[in-house]
Amino acid sequence: MIPEEKVREVAERISIVEVVSDYVSLRRAGGNFLGLCPFHAEKTPSFNVNPAREIFHCFGCGEGGNAFSFIMKMEGLSFPEAVKLLARKSGIEIEERQLTPSEIKTQDEYTQFKRINDLTTSYYRSVLLNGQEGEPARQYLANRSVEADISDVYQLGFAPDRRDGLVKHLKNNGIDLDAALKLGIIRKSDSGWYDLFRNRLIFPIKDARGQVIAFAGRVLDTTLPKYINSPESPLYHKSSVLFGLDIALPTIRTGNSVIIVEGYFDHLALYRAGVKNVVATCGTALTGTHAGLIKRHAARVYTLFDSDNAGKKATIRSMELFLEQRIPAYVISLPAGDDPDSFLTAHTAEEFIALRDKARPAFEYFVRTLLAETPPDSVDSKVRIIDDIVPRFRKIADSIERDLYEKEICRLLGITNHAFRKRMGGGKLPHQESLVNESTATQPADNIQDTLLALLLNYPEAREEIVRNGLETIFSNDYLELARLVLNSLADSENSQTLCHLAEILEKPEQKALFSRIMVSEAYLADIDWRSVLNQCTRSNEKKQLASIKDIAARLSILDPSSDEYSLLLKQADALRTRKSKL
Ligand code: GTP
Ligand code: MN
Repeated sequence: MIPEEKVREVAERISIVEVVSDYVSLRRAGGNFLGLCPFHAEKTPSFNVNPAREIFHCFGCGEGGNAFSFIMKMEGLSFPEAVKLLARKSGIEIEERQLTPSEIKTQDEYTQFKRINDLTTSYYRSVLLNGQEGEPARQYLANRSVEADISDVYQLGFAPDRRDGLVKHLKNNGIDLDAALKLGIIRKSDSGWYDLFRNRLIFPIKDARGQVIAFAGRVLDTTLPKYINSPESPLYHKSSVLFGLDIALPTIRTGNSVIIVEGYFDHLALYRAGVKNVVATCGTALTGTHAGLIKRHAARVYTLFDSDNAGKKATIRSMELFLEQRIPAYVISLPAGDDPDSFLTAHTAEEFIALRDKARPAFEYFVRTLLAETPPDSVDSKVRIIDDIVPRFRKIADSIERDLYEKEICRLLGITNHAFRKRMGGGKLPHQESLVNESTATQPADNIQDTLLALLLNYPEAREEIVRNGLETIFSNDYLELARLVLNSLADSENSQTLCHLAEILEKPEQKALFSRIMVSEAYLADIDWRSVLNQCTRSNEKKQLASIKDIAARLSILDPSSDEYSLLLKQADALRTRKSKL
């Protein structure tokens, strides 16, 4: 644990411009510095660094934060690690706080786990590389054209056909076998300790930083099961680990996209072909946690699953996750009977790239697959198709996309927009959800609230006035939450460090982006007559809210009056009318 004072000391010593300059070439532009964003591909600079605020923000991808968040994202580090790195750079020594006995125990255990996994990796690796026992595995890899350089990148290994080879190796190195038992790589029976993996090719599974956290083992023949994985452990949670992320991160960052495959060998085949922005799930279906992890690193995702039925199902299931997380998703389709590995064995990398460039939006793929399975040739089948589509259609966040798909679906099914909407009618559309459930919906940039928030940040008198009027009357959604957080942290002390600290503690990415956007916007910092701006903004804000009465009325007309949404919207409309009458 790093004491809070130390974190502040480091924050005060460093300059964000210097920190960023190690990675991005910056030039001065007004009060900000400007450069090409390292987190997404761009040709014209939209990456702003504000030295006065110690904050950065990219108007292209929305990424933003302070020097610590920059280093975390750039180097794939945790917060304490980023602090340590910057402390080293600025010559500050960090003495960690005295740990509690239970923290010491956990930390010791983790050090022990790390050592066990490292010893295990090198043991399997040396069996693969040296000696007679490794020969079948060397032969196997040669047959699959896996050369030494590739085997080295993945640190492939081989578990020999012995009962307790690993047990002995760990014991010889002074490892407490009970700790290794917790990682599931060895087991205990009445007749003693024995290895989990026997006669299997070993893939070490690593976290984003390249630390080995688990293993997968493949048979060399057609015995079943084909793969076994080490079990869930304190280090390994398979629903949140993406195989190969450590190898892929630099490439994911430059291209801002990631390809997801299902197999270890598929990952390897793509890497060998020079396609490196690839991750694989570890023998499980993709989860929401995986999707969240991907969203942290890339702005667009491609799925590349087998062309069989299981692959199609997995593709559609993953589309739903990506729709929920609002990550643009595309489907790379392979010729029937191929998986990525077999495709690349028979084709060149260029041919693969051509396939990738032809990737279709996941939702379109879904609709086409559905229509291929159930031809819309009767009323009955059309109804079934629509009912399959509707729950997924509702998850499309972008209104333009929704519009286009609606047209396309209606065209393909030969039905009218009206009929489609009617079928949708009972449920909620995403934009209706955002009216009903204000607190969880993400909100697009709102210039008025932007300005109001900037006033709150920069002008103490304006702040008092806003607080007097009540935050709720001018802010909503993310803005309201953020305004509250700002007020709380300004209550303690008022300096730029306090605000810059806020960038670290904001949890929602939307709020982070919102905050850093406002903090770097020099226009907001200029001398202004805060009172007239405040009045103007409050007035436009009111008008805008009143205009929405009309929208609400329109939506009410298509809803079922007995539904919950109907009564909620009705209440909102009433509240707005009351306010209007008071104006
Ligand atoms: P090859 O068949 O050697 O090309 O390996 P692959 O990695 O491409 O495997 P495959 O396409 O058969 O399966 C895809 C992924 O599903 C694998 O990489 C594993 O993660 C997982 N998987 C496949 N079979 C099993 C199994 O029997 N048990 C477990 N736990 N996972 C499996
Ligand atoms: Mn395969």
